[in-house]
Amino acid sequence: MNATATSGFDLSLTQGNSADLDSVVEIMDSAFDDRFGEAWTRSQCAGILPMPGVKLMVARFAGRPSGFSLHRTIADEAELLLLAVSPEHRRRGIGRMLLGDFLDNSRKLGVGRVHLEVREGNPAVIMYRSAGFALVGRRRKYYRGRFGGEFDALTLSREL
Ligand SMILES: CC(C)(COP(=O)(O)OP(=O)(O)OC[C@H]1O[C@@H](n2cnc3c(N)ncnc32)[C@H](O)[C@@H]1OP(=O)(O)O)[C@@H](O)C(=O)NCCC(=O)NCCS
Repeated sequence: MNATATSGFDLSLTQGNSADLDSVVEIMDSAFDDRFGEAWTRSQCAGILPMPGVKLMVARFAGRPSGFSLHRTIADEAELLLLAVSPEHRRRGIGRMLLGDFLDNSRKLGVGRVHLEVREGNPAVIMYRSAGFALVGRRRKYYRGRFGGEFDALTLSREL
């Protein structure tokens, strides 16, 4: 794996692959609340990883996997599929670093517009808005939680 970014406090960001699936699933299970149905299964992650244009990035804090992003580029558009940081590593800038890396990577690939879907009410919306994303749509009852709840997805987008 190649290091693509390193910050001053032992934070690194490297491209991941199927060997990182255990870490991805561990972070995802700790990061997403079962009530909302936003997390992917291991087989969903394993299935999408080999697809063209899909990239996994893993953030490590003091060497320990602490966050990841999964995104896909198709022609001149890119989609942020998943972004998660384990609860004990939050509010240290890891989420913003992963998001910034997604935007930089997309720019380098000549992408003109990036998209993502996020549950309405998820505090991640604050981070996305501060990174320049704007609301462009809504998918009603897109997320189905473990206990029967249904939640709208907001589609956010920005030009690069
Ligand atoms: C959303 C998430 C990735 C943010 O990760 P993080 O490493 O804590 O984010 P950062 O420390 O880079 O925070 C960046 C900014 O986002 C905003 N933010 C992040 N979490 C927030 C929260 N819980 N409440 C309010 N604002 C928040 C803040 O503006 C923050 O900047 P600040 O700390 O300087 O105020 C993390 O909370 C997470 O994994 N959540 C569960 C998974 C998820 O919902 N992912 C998004 C949908 S795919």
